Amino acid sequence: MLKKAGVAILGLGVVGGGTYEILTKNKEYFKKTQGVDITVQAVLEKNKERALSLGIEESKIASSIEEVCSNPEVDIVVEVIGGTGVAKTFVKTALMSGKTVVTSNKELFAKHWPELEAEAKKMNAGLFFEASCVGGVPIIRTLIDGMQANKILSIKGIINGTTNYILTKMAYEGWSYEEALKEAQRLGYAEFDPTADVEGFDATYKLSILSSLAFNKKICIENVYREGITAITKEDIAQGKEMGYTLKLLGIGKDTEKGVEVRVHPTFIKNDNPLASVNDSFNAVHLVGDAVGEIMLYGRGAGALPTGSAIVSDIIFAAKHNEYFYASFKNNAQGNKETKFVKDFTSKYYIRLTVKDMAGVLAKIATTFAKNNISIAEVKQVGGSDNSAQIVVNTHVCAEGAVKKTLDKLSTLPEMIKVNSVIRIED
Ligand code: HSE
Repeated sequence: MLKKAGVAILGLGVVGGGTYEILTKNKEYFKKTQGVDITVQAVLEKNKERALSLGIEESKIASSIEEVCSNPEVDIVVEVIGGTGVAKTFVKTALMSGKTVVTSNKELFAKHWPELEAEAKKMNAGLFFEASCVGGVPIIRTLIDGMQANKILSIKGIINGTTNYILTKMAYEGWSYEEALKEAQRLGYAEFDPTADVEGFDATYKLSILSSLAFNKKICIENVYREGITAITKEDIAQGKEMGYTLKLLGIGKDTEKGVEVRVHPTFIKNDNPLASVNDSFNAVHLVGDAVGEIMLYGRGAGALPTGSAIVSDIIFAAKHNEYFYASFKNNAQGNKETKFVKDFTSKYYIRLTVKDMAGVLAKIATTFAKNNISIAEVKQVGGSDNSAQIVVNTHVCAEGAVKKTLDKLSTLPEMIKVNSVIRIED
């Protein structure tokens, strides 16, 4: 029997518009293939002209969240406003009215998931968030519905398209960070204030959500180590290329016997790593499960139709199923106190230094690394002027804390001019 569902869309920006387009264009197709008849019954959008230009009838343009939530024709409320201000109020109001919520809001979810989940459970409402992570790539459902047979050992991903676009242009066009950012802004990938993307906040929100699902433990954003790409130079990308590495902003989650490791930072990966060929604004997530081994999902992490695709898949799921999924772990704001986190993680490192070009400097540098128990894999002089030299030191696997101590010590040497860059290398 055909199931009917009424939808309200809060916010008709890029993603809201894409969602509306898919729901209207494929309405008959969903009836045939999914057995659901989905109708947009209301929208909440300040810009009335925008709603009308999409072909939405004036009678469906609501003037308040209360009007949306008291509409008996609305079963599912889609929040695509973003942020944690009005979006949070609207989502809570919808849940408190017993409406199922579908959201693309990673910041809201990463910061307030437990509170929203508690409200949804109380009201027996659904709460869906496929679009919150990696746009059109169905990673949430893969983790929930496709990987249950596995203990997931690691999750590594290019989970921010803006930074991937910038790094790709720096690598392939030789652009500076500033040039690449400007073009990303012109194309609409990066915001006027690009902080959330380039400083790694967006990726941190997504990694917090994804690693919580992957490892069945609440991973709060405070547990995620974060470093953005603003200090990356084309010199480092070019150096990496010569050594056979590609630079990516990775979200990395590992669940090991020592504990959970979650971090977002620029990372050199070998050129033959499948993530190395994920370019431009594309996203990809690589998972390792103890049964399935490696799998990788690839696709568009943003945009009207890709993100709309994830939202509509949640709407269809909600319309078809009476039972809802909630986190399988104790989902509280502080996480589980028993969960151990590896703060002093280990990695290989690429370190570029500018030093005075004089006898004995290399020996001093090597001794400082050795004293901190760091084994050097390779040292190269990569340039310099009459008085200074640029040195690249690549290490074997060592502890993050030992690298910090080494750099502190190196900074006190009279021959040291600058620590230019420190980039982790992930095998
Ligand atoms: N701004 C994000 C990105 C998309 O560049 O991937 C939404 O999270």
